[in-house]
Amino acid sequence: MTINELNRKFGLRSMAKFVEGRGGLTKLVMTHELGRCELYLHGAHVTSYVPTGGKEVLWVSRKSLFEAGAPIRGGIPVCHPWFGPLEADPEAPMHGLARTSDFEVESVESIVPDGVSAVLKRRFAKADKPGRPGNYELRVRVTVGRSLCVACETRNLGRDELPLTEALHSYFGVSDVRKVSVMHLSGVEYFCKVKGAPGVEGAKPVTFKGEFDRVYTDTTVGAKIVDPGAKREINVSKRGSNSTVVWNPWTKKAAAMADFGDNEWPRMLCIEAANALSDAVRVPRGGKHVLETVIRAVTR
Ligand code: BG6
Repeated sequence: MTINELNRKFGLRSMAKFVEGRGGLTKLVMTHELGRCELYLHGAHVTSYVPTGGKEVLWVSRKSLFEAGAPIRGGIPVCHPWFGPLEADPEAPMHGLARTSDFEVESVESIVPDGVSAVLKRRFAKADKPGRPGNYELRVRVTVGRSLCVACETRNLGRDELPLTEALHSYFGVSDVRKVSVMHLSGVEYFCKVKGAPGVEGAKPVTFKGEFDRVYTDTTVGAKIVDPGAKREINVSKRGSNSTVVWNPWTKKAAAMADFGDNEWPRMLCIEAANALSDAVRVPRGGKHVLETVIRAVTR
């Protein structure tokens, strides 16, 4: 559908408007009295969330691509139906298919008085390669109001169980990652991808002194970024998620990524509501599964 057609069918005056975004990709801007967000149909990808009276909560790289076939670097990529590389198929693209697929709009509605909400969907056919999940429908509901909520619903349309790993790979803007701390992960087991080894988080809040890439497992609690430099706390709560991924690439890894500015790493931190490693999900035949994250920023 063209932007005019989308606005005629789904637009909500000042609350929901489709516009041409970067790279000519279609973007939905949702505005509520309590907050505003931007969402690309490419990847069902949220790229901006600004609570009313506050500052941008998400981070997007200045070097991000905005083009068909490429993921957007920043915002909230939907990593689905696998997180990271796919063990059964080393050729499979990192972080699954959703973030490089175009979605269609199912509905846009105002939920008085709480927020504005859009549902994007896409059906994925039977996989043409062995080891890859297929035959499912993905619905991504994005709601902006007092908080930003992203819910990703998988419906298994196949005859067999659907194995799934996934993440709502949220990139948050921070004043300086070396000066923030992350709460609520104490005592949680993790796998550190930098060392290639497991560990258990200590009693203190998590702080950052180098490349950081940990998948915390068996945890439903979520996390909170405390950012004194920005005078802000960002609460990341979740549902349908047993893993939390925390990632910052630091200097070398940032420099090695073409779509990530060499000096941008201090200003971002990923906290991802996920199901990964031992928390992989198996969606039964005819069943569904929802992964949700709720983001709330509080300025102190
Ligand atoms: C994180 C992973 O979730 O995503 C990291 O834990 C990975 O290992 C990062 O490097 C970014 O992945 P990509 O595919 O977007 O470069």
